[in-house]
Amino acid sequence: MVAVAILAAGRGTRMKSDLPKVLHQLASCSLAERVLKSCVSIQPSRIMVIVGYRGDLVQKSLLGNKNNIDNDNIPTLEFVEQTEQLGTGHAIQQLLPYLKEFSEDLLVLNGDVPLLRPETLKQLIDAHKENQNAATILTANLPNPKGYGRIFCDTNNFVTQIVEDRDCTAAQKQNHRVNAGVYCFKWPDLAKILPELKADNDQQEYYLTDVVPLLNPVMAVNLNDYQEIVGINHRKHLAAAYEILQMRVKDNWMAAGVTLIDPDSITIDDTVLLEQDVIVEPQTHIRGRSTIGSGSRIGPGSLIENSQIGKNTSVLYSVVSDSVVGDNTRIGPYAHLRGDSQVGSDCRIGNFVELKKVQVGDRSNAAHLSYLGDATLGENVNIGAGTITANYNGVKKHKTQIGDRSKTGSNSVLVAPVTLGEDVTVAAGSVVTKDVEDDSLVVARSRQTVRKGWRLKSSGESKQENKS
Ligand code: UD1
Ligand code: CA
Repeated sequence: MVAVAILAAGRGTRMKSDLPKVLHQLASCSLAERVLKSCVSIQPSRIMVIVGYRGDLVQKSLLGNKNNIDNDNIPTLEFVEQTEQLGTGHAIQQLLPYLKEFSEDLLVLNGDVPLLRPETLKQLIDAHKENQNAATILTANLPNPKGYGRIFCDTNNFVTQIVEDRDCTAAQKQNHRVNAGVYCFKWPDLAKILPELKADNDQQEYYLTDVVPLLNPVMAVNLNDYQEIVGINHRKHLAAAYEILQMRVKDNWMAAGVTLIDPDSITIDDTVLLEQDVIVEPQTHIRGRSTIGSGSRIGPGSLIENSQIGKNTSVLYSVVSDSVVGDNTRIGPYAHLRGDSQVGSDCRIGNFVELKKVQVGDRSNAAHLSYLGDATLGENVNIGAGTITANYNGVKKHKTQIGDRSKTGSNSVLVAPVTLGEDVTVAAGSVVTKDVEDDSLVVARSRQTVRKGWRLKSSGESKQENKS
């Protein structure tokens, strides 16, 4: 068993942000949450998160999003405060009073290294245990190692020293082998020497990396895929990490039988699930906890957020947020579904239609120019062009109910709260303010009047005549 410590106390000055660095989002998921996710599958005995700069915010965010992590065995998160951020070594020193009796291994993860694969952590821990190392460090050779600590080894390939980029001599900078910021320590060995750290470096911080010469043996596990260890120090790193993540996600879905047309113009979060034979068209973005059923075609030009789309459904130039759509349904062009809307199967919602908190039964249509809010529509309902549910009286939202097989004429306004029964027809242009029984026609508009022979008089004639 290993315990995990996540370093998440720094402000991340180079991000130039009020938000703690570890709370910056990378594809709908904070950096800290990503680091947490990467370690749950190794089933740690404990997870300690070291917090400092706006620690309450980091704590709240991690606790609030813990449910998003697909693992029931995740231990209760323990938050340890580092009130002053005096360096990564100082951060780990804060664990000393917490881990007095602890005699196992401690996996230390930098909170700003978000793309680690669980398999990599497993590999690191296995190497650590097998060789009974005092410390095992994850390393990689980077084409551009600027900003990373460099790893130096002796002839037996044991690590002797880590030198931070800013403390490196010109010759040391030629070494492209870097410290990933991921370490496994034999805790009793580390605990013994932690108090000896000194802040005699360019930043005058207590560096965790300075424990290396004090431990024996220290082994390095070198990773081939260097992209996995990218650390986020500024916004350009965040963008680079996003690109790496997108490449991973898209390769994965294409290998699983999804067609991406013009992949560079598409973004897909790694929390999304796509079934085989989904087609994603250009300029489409699928985010959060979304799923798309097989045979569905999403885009061009669509945004799907935290929504479930069924099979063989199309979503064209539309936005679908926090909603569910059934099978064989056509959404768009230019529809907006939001606020927990649920659309059944074989429906059509399109051409400038907005749904907010609406349930739509199977085989129902709202095909043109409508706003439907806080409404329940039965099956086989037809909403005429320009129908509006007036759901808000300026104080409260009210509900509209429309029974099976009912139809609204063009430009009708349904003033909520109001219920239309089954098989109701609303005449075009009606303003319906009262409930309507089953099997009825409701006409709620003034009657047409026709004045035969009336015409606009020409300007030369008297005003009196024109008024008639
Ligand atoms: C660190 C390593 C460097 C490595 C790189 C990998 C040290 C001294 N250097 O450098 O060798 O190549 O990561 O990405 O460790 N933190 C705290 N408390 C503090 C300071 C930092 O919790 O007092 C946290 C930060 O929130 C961050 C992590 O530790 O999540 C790393 O800190 P950062 O300042 O980014 O270290 P680097 O300079 O990147
Ligand atoms: Ca960093």
